[in-house]
Amino acid sequence: MAKEIRSFKHLLGKLDGISDPQLEAHFGLYEGYVKKLNEIEEKLEKVDKGLTNYSFGEYSELKRRHCVPYNGTYLHEMYFDNMLASESPSSEFEKLSKESFGSMDAWKADVKATGLAVPGWVVSCIETTTGKLRNVQIMEHHIGFPLNHTPVLVMDTWEHAFFLDYKANRGAYIDTFFKNINWSVVNARVKLAVV
Ligand SMILES: [Fe+2]
Repeated sequence: MAKEIRSFKHLLGKLDGISDPQLEAHFGLYEGYVKKLNEIEEKLEKVDKGLTNYSFGEYSELKRRHCVPYNGTYLHEMYFDNMLASESPSSEFEKLSKESFGSMDAWKADVKATGLAVPGWVVSCIETTTGKLRNVQIMEHHIGFPLNHTPVLVMDTWEHAFFLDYKANRGAYIDTFFKNINWSVVNARVKLAVV
């Protein structure tokens, strides 16, 4: 079944420091990933698997790029879901950040440093093997994400997420992102991830 495009129009006019034109342009990009995901999945059902080949083959190329629109779709949904300031970090999140980074401020500084270094994504995750909070970089949408990590907070650091509002000032955008975190969503993800 085709993946449906979700609407995030409830964010319009509600974010602090991220304009509606910026958001609307971003929604358009997200929709493009959903469409491309559906296109690839439809083609994967029909293509002749017998012709697949390491050097080149339609099936192998579709499989190779599948993760790009797949993660491009779900990372954007997680990002928009964790926007719109609400609540505060739970005591559970504060404890995690303190145990893993020394303090909430140190966790935040690490998110910012990670984001300044990557034109892609920063994902705060709980590492399932250790229970620690870790900030992971994802290049493009699919490169560099390690196994055993459950995402709890997603920040888009592609230029298209902020260029209309902040030009090349990635750091100012990251500071703005922190002001808009929907902690009720993040706290719920943490609760599900910590067993
Ligand atoms: Fe994006």
